[in-house]
Amino acid sequence: MNFVESKNSKNNEILKKEKELPRLGMHSFHRYYGKLIPAIPSVFIKEFTKEGDLIFDPFSGSGTTAVEALAHNRNFVGFEINPLSRQIAYIKTRKLNPEILAEYNNKIINLIETKNYEVNENDLPYLLNRDHWFKDFVQHDLIVLKKAIDDFFSKEKCSSDYKLFYYMVISAILKNVSNADTRHVFPGISKRMRALEAAGKIHIDVFASFKRAIKKRAQDYAIYENICADANLILADSTNADIDDLKGRVDLIVTNPPYISSVRYIETLKLEMYWMKYITNTKEYSELAHKMLGNDKLSKQEYQELEYTNYSEINEIIDTMKNIDMKSAKIIGEFFNQIEKVIEKMSLVLKSGARAVIKISDSKIKKMKIETGRLMTLISENYGFKLEDVFLDEINNNSRSLTTARNTYSDIITHDYIIIWEKE
Ligand SMILES: C[S@@+](CC[C@H](N)C(=O)[O-])C[C@H]1O[C@@H](n2cnc3c(N)ncnc32)[C@H](O)[C@@H]1O
Repeated sequence: MNFVESKNSKNNEILKKEKELPRLGMHSFHRYYGKLIPAIPSVFIKEFTKEGDLIFDPFSGSGTTAVEALAHNRNFVGFEINPLSRQIAYIKTRKLNPEILAEYNNKIINLIETKNYEVNENDLPYLLNRDHWFKDFVQHDLIVLKKAIDDFFSKEKCSSDYKLFYYMVISAILKNVSNADTRHVFPGISKRMRALEAAGKIHIDVFASFKRAIKKRAQDYAIYENICADANLILADSTNADIDDLKGRVDLIVTNPPYISSVRYIETLKLEMYWMKYITNTKEYSELAHKMLGNDKLSKQEYQELEYTNYSEINEIIDTMKNIDMKSAKIIGEFFNQIEKVIEKMSLVLKSGARAVIKISDSKIKKMKIETGRLMTLISENYGFKLEDVFLDEINNNSRSLTTARNTYSDIITHDYIIIWEKE
């Protein structure tokens, strides 16, 4: 393996050009920290595949690769462990009809404006300190939205994907109508928000936000008008997902795996997950956090015994780290063992000669640099992959929110790499 970043990569050149193109409105359906820049899947889908091919993402998140695959008339299959994320990606890749949506929009708005839905305490979801996060009238209005949607779809005979669209729009506007500072990645009420509140400068209008949001998103579905391909979003843990049906069928993988210690991605979606009832209590929340790759929520008991890997270089890092911090040493071992399982699956599903494009950053844990991309490439060679290209991806405005998240929380960010492996 010669893991040296290429200074004049042709792939980097075409990616830079792609970044100048306008991005699809669909990518803005729902906020999601850690999103891929759409140009990455878009350019490599065009470069390495043809219409009708199959694209795979083992960490599909909010579905950036899925949307680009579908928009380019490629089929897509993806795994995602977080049920809300899976649902976001799912709704972004349904071929909904913008005209039907426009008609439903009007009817639902009419119900909201003309009916007097009663809201009771037991309509409200469980969320610790709910009143801290949402003003009383906001909670009321959000439930009214849900009631109007339920009311409308109880009468109309139509696909439930349309109903899901409206639910997902509630999720999409939730942070905007909460007390949380939307400039912050993790839900929190900042000094800035308190000052705005005190100056009477916060004007939340749940119905107006919802109306704007459904109108804009309805139009975004026009991109799928002449598309025959389909996207299959599977709620699964990619370390142990069943891939029997996929073996040798995939033409391209484009993915950005979670970073080491990145469990807090789930925290970024906390309000939405509780409000939309994807999580109904703290036990469910921590169980999901535990299953996520890169998880850093370990009890003392859990990190008493370290996990070593099949790779001496990684084991040396674990040994050095154990003298600094046992918990981090455990997290590192666990991360590489889990990612190895996913790399094996990636190899099994890919056709020979096909490629995997991975976006990943190094991590800094307790001041120690972990070269995640290089070490993943080392592992990949055991599974029939050959490094074809590696280059640094310039951080631009699109990834600014993620950068903030990383700087604040996980010490990540030295380099953002794009790595291309070829399956031999
Ligand atoms: C960096 S994000 C991917 C974002 C995605 N490319 C997008 O544009 O929205 C990594 C994703 O991996 C998911 N994840 C973490 N552990 C997982 C696992 N074991 N199996 C499947 N997905 C997992 C997280 O929920 C998160 O959505």
